Amino acid sequence: MNRPERSSVEFSVNGRPYEVEGGDVFLTASEFLRERTRRTGTKIACEEGDCGSCTVLVGRPTDQGTSYLPMNSCIRFVFQLDGCDMVTVEALASDGRLTSVQEAMVECHGSQCGFCTPGFVMAMTATCHQRATSPEESPPVDWPLELSGNLCRCTGYLPILEAARRCESSDGEISKWSRVTETTRRRFDLLGNTPFDASGTHRGAARRVLSPVTLEEALRIRADLPEAQLIAGATDLGVQWTKARKAAAVWIDLGRVPELRGITVCEAEPDRSGDEPADGGAARVIEAGAMATWAELLDRSRTDLPEFASILERFGGPQIRNYGTIGGNIVNASSIADSLPLLSVMDASLELASSEGRRRVDVNRFFTANRRTMIQADELLASVRIPLPSPLQRLRLYKVSRRHDLDIATVSAAFCLTFEAGRITRAAIALGGVGPTVRRLEGVERWLIDRPCREETFEAAGRLAADEISPWSDVRGTAEYRRQVVGGLLTRYFHEVSSDMGAGE
Ligand SMILES: Cc1cc2nc3c(=O)[nH]c(=O)nc-3n(C[C@H](O)[C@H](O)[C@H](O)COP(=O)(O)OP(=O)(O)OC[C@H]3O[C@@H](n4cnc5c(N)ncnc54)[C@H](O)[C@@H]3O)c2cc1C
Ligand code: FES
Ligand code: FES
Repeated sequence: MNRPERSSVEFSVNGRPYEVEGGDVFLTASEFLRERTRRTGTKIACEEGDCGSCTVLVGRPTDQGTSYLPMNSCIRFVFQLDGCDMVTVEALASDGRLTSVQEAMVECHGSQCGFCTPGFVMAMTATCHQRATSPEESPPVDWPLELSGNLCRCTGYLPILEAARRCESSDGEISKWSRVTETTRRRFDLLGNTPFDASGTHRGAARRVLSPVTLEEALRIRADLPEAQLIAGATDLGVQWTKARKAAAVWIDLGRVPELRGITVCEAEPDRSGDEPADGGAARVIEAGAMATWAELLDRSRTDLPEFASILERFGGPQIRNYGTIGGNIVNASSIADSLPLLSVMDASLELASSEGRRRVDVNRFFTANRRTMIQADELLASVRIPLPSPLQRLRLYKVSRRHDLDIATVSAAFCLTFEAGRITRAAIALGGVGPTVRRLEGVERWLIDRPCREETFEAAGRLAADEISPWSDVRGTAEYRRQVVGGLLTRYFHEVSSDMGAGE
């Protein structure tokens, strides 16, 4: 395998260019800021993407300008910043003058110990900046949603939300803090098309990361290095590193492969011959590249799959949604991954690619055991096709968690039933958090066929479902609690869809 010439990564911090090589490319961005550049305004508290204290803004400078997104710097690695400008809290105030966001925090007493404050300020600045640069007219800001990736342990949220509302009309004052020069921008443009292969010793271990810029190259590297691990947004792998010091010796970074990005809504494909799954008889499907982020999917779902949008608004916080990908969520294969119940009931299909070709598999056959999938060592997940519900189908998704925001599910569920003349003609029921993998309840599905849409039907289905699952007890809930939740959700589904369909239907 030819090694690309580039073995270093380049990015800027508050406009100042850095070139990093060797073991330092495996530092987290927050370690780099604090330990290598002494910019200690970015705080590290949880080091697992939960509290937002480490929030910085990151953007890729282009001819059209730079759109900066908030990011948790504690779980993203230096090599993932290649070609980007990172902005820290130190860049905001200039010539002794605070930005309007900072001023609002002072005026509203939005800070006590101050540990969370830089993170909140950066998250608010990002929202103001995105609103000001969005081509569409923005609705009023939903600040609790925008700040759901930030925790404060002592001030309380009311003064912080008051500050956010007070600075809402500001544009985030990008002109004060974006300092990328034309030379740096041109240099970063060039880097976008150049792969790198960086290696070094990090915390006593030999590490290497290869960053291809085409799918063909990614597949070739995957075939040559089957022991290497793919890395996408690093919202799972970053936490494995910071909390358990687990990391593969070789990573293949998919962050710059354009063919893995993008989301389209298209006509469904006709049934195919052979074993390959079709689009389940749907008229339209969402096709998402494996590297589509949750922020992009949330945006798309608001118009095309609103049931999913309401789950995605609770997926991590904005900092997680900006980088976490659908591909990472699927291949990580957690039983409580938020995307999986939906994919399961809609009979989504996954496209797996290798240098030998492509194959499409049914998501319901993909998971073989807890955290295990059928993906082969030379394959990667390229895209996902999600059939959209037909007018006769009623889809509902549920996430039951101990906290509303920024929490993972205790139990998750997707129910998609087809109703014709008041009777159930097709049923798909998938549950997460009640077994080693997300699973369909085939016994209950069969039992529901041809039953009337009545409360007793769903109460009985809930009892059958509780018998069909074997949940465990853990800190999130006992097995008995999980059984009761499943029964409750089926009854809730009945009430929601029957009021939605109207009494006559
Ligand atoms: C604070 C926090 C909150 C979270 N909240 C939620 C939540 O509400 N709901 C939820 O479901 N999850 C949540 N997560 C988990 C995580 O954000 C998601 O699972 C996310 O979608 C993972 O995507 P990623 O791109 O970051 O994956 P990565 O961490 O980069 O990778 C995860 C796994 O997928 C593999 N992989 C990635 N892409 C591919 C590919 N294209 N082909 C083959 N293998 C691939 C990697 O090798 C790795 O094994 C949260 C995580 C954090 C830190
Ligand atoms: S330190 Fe808590 S999210 Fe990074
Ligand atoms: S001000 Fe102390 S944690 Fe928020």
